[in-house]
Amino acid sequence: MSTYVEDKRKVTTRRLFEMKQRGEKISMLTAYDYSMAKLIDEAGMDVILVGDSASNVMAGNVTTLPMTLDQMIYHGKSVMRAVKRALVVVDMPFGTYQGNSKEALSSAIRIMKETHADCVKLEGGSEVRESIERILCAGIPVMGHLGLTPQSINKFGSYTVRAREEAEAKKLVEDAKLLEEIGCFAIVLEKIPAELAARVVKEVSVPIIGIGAGGGVDGQVLVMHDMLGINKGFSPRFLRRYADLSTIITDAVAKYIEDVKTADFPNEKEQY
Ligand code: KIV
Repeated sequence: MSTYVEDKRKVTTRRLFEMKQRGEKISMLTAYDYSMAKLIDEAGMDVILVGDSASNVMAGNVTTLPMTLDQMIYHGKSVMRAVKRALVVVDMPFGTYQGNSKEALSSAIRIMKETHADCVKLEGGSEVRESIERILCAGIPVMGHLGLTPQSINKFGSYTVRAREEAEAKKLVEDAKLLEEIGCFAIVLEKIPAELAARVVKEVSVPIIGIGAGGGVDGQVLVMHDMLGINKGFSPRFLRRYADLSTIITDAVAKYIEDVKTADFPNEKEQY
């Protein structure tokens, strides 16, 4: 088994902050099930995100919007059964925190009680301030998410780079400062210019984790299916592929089919 990290202690929100302070980059990757979460944790990942991208890569939906709270809790529980070291963040799905802060709190409490995860993540800035404050008041750590926020895709109209214009960039910086001020322990910045992300890093002290936000941030997050090459149809510029699992899996499955059809499998040693 190969692992990059020697330190086997459980990762906490405090430890992420210390990593930022000493300039150690934070690694973060999504996982949605027990088996993959176990491998990712054993490899030494700092943060595992049970992302609502499960909607796309696990359920085959076009957007993240259909994901329900029950589905996120199912994925969160599966991941938590496997993870020993990484900090586990569960995404609050669309419609569970935007309406009112009481509903946001009860959704976050269900996630924490039923999954045993370490914290929640939700999308947006000043618009969801009240919800974040209420969740934080209950002692639940919150990770923010700004820039391209996929739950707002119908408002944006496309998945192109956000905050290229000064007005949107200004709001993003203000939102990042607000999230820090009200107590978010970290912020994900998705698909924004690298220069803007680096500006946010200078202006806030909590860890900034980027996806398509350049190298000037405190850590990186990717969707597991994308970086392992399971989902080959998705190839944005920011994505680096570390494996070609789609080829490995289809070749292995095709070989199995051939072995079954030709009665090569099972052989004498593979039976009782
Ligand atoms: O749901 C998800 O996978 C995410 C990442 C893209 C950050 O929110």
